[in-house]
Order: sequence, then structure tokens, then C-alpha cells
Amino acid sequence: MTKNVLVLPGDGIGPEIVAQAVRVLDAVNEQFSLNIQHESALVGGSAYDETGSPLPETTLAKAKAADAILLGAVGGPKWDKLDMSVRPEKGLLGLRSNLELFSNLRPAILYPQLADASSLKPEIVAGLDILIVRELTGGIYFGQPRGIRILENGEREGFNTYVYNESEIRRIGRSAFEAARQRGKRVCSIDKSNVLEVTVLWKDVMEEVAKEYPDVELTHMLVDNAAMQLVRAPKQFDVMVTGNMFGDILSDAAAMLTGSIGMLPSASLNAEGRGMYEPCHGSAPDIAGKGIANPLATILSVAMMLRYSLDAKEAADAIEAAVSQVLDLGLRTADIASKGCETVSTQAMGDAVLAALKA
Ligand code: NAI
Ligand code: MG
Repeated sequence: MTKNVLVLPGDGIGPEIVAQAVRVLDAVNEQFSLNIQHESALVGGSAYDETGSPLPETTLAKAKAADAILLGAVGGPKWDKLDMSVRPEKGLLGLRSNLELFSNLRPAILYPQLADASSLKPEIVAGLDILIVRELTGGIYFGQPRGIRILENGEREGFNTYVYNESEIRRIGRSAFEAARQRGKRVCSIDKSNVLEVTVLWKDVMEEVAKEYPDVELTHMLVDNAAMQLVRAPKQFDVMVTGNMFGDILSDAAAMLTGSIGMLPSASLNAEGRGMYEPCHGSAPDIAGKGIANPLATILSVAMMLRYSLDAKEAADAIEAAVSQVLDLGLRTADIASKGCETVSTQAMGDAVLAALKA
């Protein structure tokens, strides 16, 4: 059966890094006979320039029909003065909400070759490989009622509502357990069940989900302790699953443990396992057009896409191994440049990954 990938290069360095990622996708497609087809469409500022909308109808229709989406990045100073409703970021948010991408997978991987990029001691982070699964469409960021009101005594009061229902918890739980099955088979669920009722329910439902996955181990941790443990001994984790707000904070902290934003991929999945894959970084307008951007986060996003949406784990493993091999060879783009290593261009990094795949 043919699988369809929609490629959305976007703005800034987006087209440069996506071009390298598509070469890698084409290579594994052939090598592993995956039967993947892809086509490109406009999103973000470049879509606005051409059509007046950051998410044209044709792009949305193609996104809905695709098995997976590969996105570069959107935005840049050129569009910063536009009205909120047509800013490039609206294109991204529109895709997330229209496709109901509730499960955000954010790996924090530190290749041993890059251990000196982290602000933590090499022995604490070298070889770090954890996955944070963050609920993305519910929780306190969306709960109603919300607002700022005036009390009877004239004082202002701000309020938000932290709410999750069972089915929302169950589906993000399953997403985390499915991901754990593809990795180290351990899930740590993060809550604040000593204070917040929502997370007492969260914890209970995670226990119920765990029964469906006897091959995966479930543990629980309070979020404040989790923050400490991420910095103290991050390698103890395999998959961490948590709600929208805790996940926002913990995933950024975990990402920074690796120190190199040009290396981090991400996925946002819906209930059918279809998803959007993109690097964690933005469109880097400061280096756009110079041919020096690091394409590895986008190439690694292709690996995630193969693993989680296209049922091609072997090809995903091959890409990740190729990236590691290229780092072994001492090749670095400028953002991860290091003494004694060779600094290479975006294109040369793509060439090197392709060569490692063929070897
Ligand atoms: P950024 O991630 O684009 O850049 C931060 C710094 O990291 C810059 O110095 C940049 O040169 C560097 N950098 C980022 N990716 C790199 C790569 N692959 N290789 C080498 N260096 C890299 O974040 P910033 O500067 O805050 O935002 C720039 C634009 O990107 C803004 O318009 C922002 O709205 C947009 N943005 C888009 C995102 C998305 O499409 N998902 C996410 C974050 C920001
Ligand atoms: Mg954040």
C-alpha cells in the first residue's frame, strides 16, 4: 500500500533543511522498499505571500489526506508585523487543531559525540535518550472557565481551569505506552497527585492503561521531583508522560540537557497515529540562505515519522545509526562545531548521512 507524506518546507532555513531530509527519505524509501510518495505544499509566511493565508485550503486538504507530514519551520521578521490571524504561526496551530494532534513526542537525545555541548557534566548526560510525551490539546491551557475578573472588593483575580476527562488521559496514556514499546519499555507518569485531583484521576487512568501493556513497566513521579531528577540523573528515564503544562516545562528542560537545538526532532500525533514531524527549532532567519543550518533535527524527524506513522522501524533505526556515524566521523555543522572536528555545510551534512546509509 502506498503511503503519502506531505512535505511543508515553510520559511527561513525550512526549505534548506527539508531538502536534505527529503533526500534521506527518498534513500530509505528505495533501500527498504517502503512505497512512500511525497508532495510539497505551502505553509507559513511563504504561503501568506503567495495566497494571503498561512494555511491555504489546498494545504489543509492535503494534510488531512496524508499519512504523515514533514514540516520545516515557519515565521520570520518579514511577517512579524502582520495581524495575528494571518501570521505564519497560525499555519502551524491550524494544522495542530484541525488534525487533532493531541500527543506531542519530544525526545531528548544526547549523542555521546556531543556530550561537551551540554551544560551538565558529560558523565551525567552522555548517551542520554529519553522521550517526553506531552498532552497537547487539553489541560489547564484549554480548560474553561478562564479569565481575569473583578472581585466585590474591587481586587482583580485571575483564574484558569485544570481539567482532563478519562478519555483524554487514556489516549495520551496509550500514546506513551505505544512509544515505550518501540523503545525501552518503561513509562514514568508525572503528576501532582498530592495536591491536584485532576492528577489523581490521571494516575488512576494510567494504571488502567498499563493493564493493556503488560510488557511495559509503569512508575509514577511527582512533577517537582521529576524536575529535580531530570537535572540530577536524567538517564534513569525512558518515556515520561504528562499533561500539557507540566510537559511544556519538562520538555524544554530536557531539551536543554542536550545543549544543541539543531539536533532535536519532534512529533505530534493524532488518534489514528497520523502525525506531523518537525525539528524543535524555528526558522532561524539569522542564518537562512547561508547554507550552514544543521539539517539533522529534520532528518531525525524523518526517522520518527517512519517509526511512529509509517510502520518502518528498520528504516528509522538506519537513519539514526547513520546520523550517529556521521558524528563519529567528526563532521559538524556550525551550531555544533567543536575543536578537532570538521565544520560542514547543510548540503555536505546531507551528503554524509546519505553516504553512511549506503555503507
Ligand atoms: P530559532 O530556533 O529559529 O533560532 C534560535 C537560534 O538557534 C538562532 O541563533 C538560530 O540560528 C539557531 N538555530 C536554530 N535552528 C538551527 C539549525 N537547524 N542549525 C543551526 N542553528 C540553528 O528561534 P527564534 O530565533 O526564536 O525564532 C525565529 C523564527 O522562528 C521566529 O519567527 C519564530 O516565530 C519561529 N519559530 C518557529 C517554530 C516552528 O516553526 N515550529 C518554532 C520556534 C520558532
Ligand atoms: Mg515551551
